[in-house]
Amino acid sequence: MAIPVIIDCDPGIDDVMALLLAFVRPELDVRLITTEAGNQTQDKTSFNARGFADLMKQKIEVARGLEQPLMRTLEVAGHVHGDTGLGSLTLDEPVTKESRRSAIDALRETILESPEETVLVATGPLTNIGALFLAHPEVKAHIRYISFMGGAAVGGNVTPTAEFNVYTDPEAADLVFRSGVPIVMSGLDVTHKAYMTEQDLQAIEAIGTPLAREIIAMLKFYGKAAQQTPFHEPHFADVIRLHDLCAVAYAIKPELFAGMDCHVEIETEGRLTSGTTVVDYTNRTKKPANAHVLHSVDREAFVRLFTDAVREAGG
Ligand code: RIB
Ligand code: CA
Repeated sequence: MAIPVIIDCDPGIDDVMALLLAFVRPELDVRLITTEAGNQTQDKTSFNARGFADLMKQKIEVARGLEQPLMRTLEVAGHVHGDTGLGSLTLDEPVTKESRRSAIDALRETILESPEETVLVATGPLTNIGALFLAHPEVKAHIRYISFMGGAAVGGNVTPTAEFNVYTDPEAADLVFRSGVPIVMSGLDVTHKAYMTEQDLQAIEAIGTPLAREIIAMLKFYGKAAQQTPFHEPHFADVIRLHDLCAVAYAIKPELFAGMDCHVEIETEGRLTSGTTVVDYTNRTKKPANAHVLHSVDREAFVRLFTDAVREAGG
């Protein structure tokens, strides 16, 4: 029985890699896509999600989320994902139109209509999900868990201690991590290990389809941009990290990952540390765990899962 899944994303180059894997694998039944403002504005992330669904020949509802973080001004990541949000990829005007339902309404109705519990895969800021829980707390009991790419037990990629998705909307992340809904957190601790090497890229290039060529071009754009971020770890300077892919890969093959149940709280006020996920992995606070925080991945199997999906996607 395929797992009912909703993907809340801010495409975003690594977001579309996550969408590709989710669309191809039989283990997941993608019921809905909702878009976040994050890597780019809502106009661009919505366009990208719909255009990529067309490219992947998917008939799927794409519902538009909030225009801004709950309490802050949006700071997009054009320096990483490019002005369109998808680096080198130019998409035609999407055939898939924006849903008439808002992301909040589509999330609520899709979750409540499903006889089985839904897995929420979140690969952008948590603005939509935070707002959903404020407006419709009744949905929480129908969510199996949230597979979230974001945060870090150690380090950051926007500030020394904050990762982009949480940094962009710390208040939303705080609402979600306090919600009581189980969370599997793919933070930088694991996503920095979920990387592709030049050799891995060559295996994708060898597939030889137009889609494979587009994927390579986007990954090379993303990898180059990642070199320029001031907080890039020099010893990993020549690899491309597939952050968002972890959140989908976990939903498909959790056995590829290892993690630890921890109490995680979000810093929303720190002068230097706003957006930090404070991961209590030594249980200092004695507070109950609210997240399973991933720290390791079988990298070769992870890369093979994605490479095989690009091949199976054809195109
Ligand atoms: O920090 C990485 C995360 O921020 C990824 O989701 C990437 O797409 C950006 O949104
Ligand atoms: Ca993302």
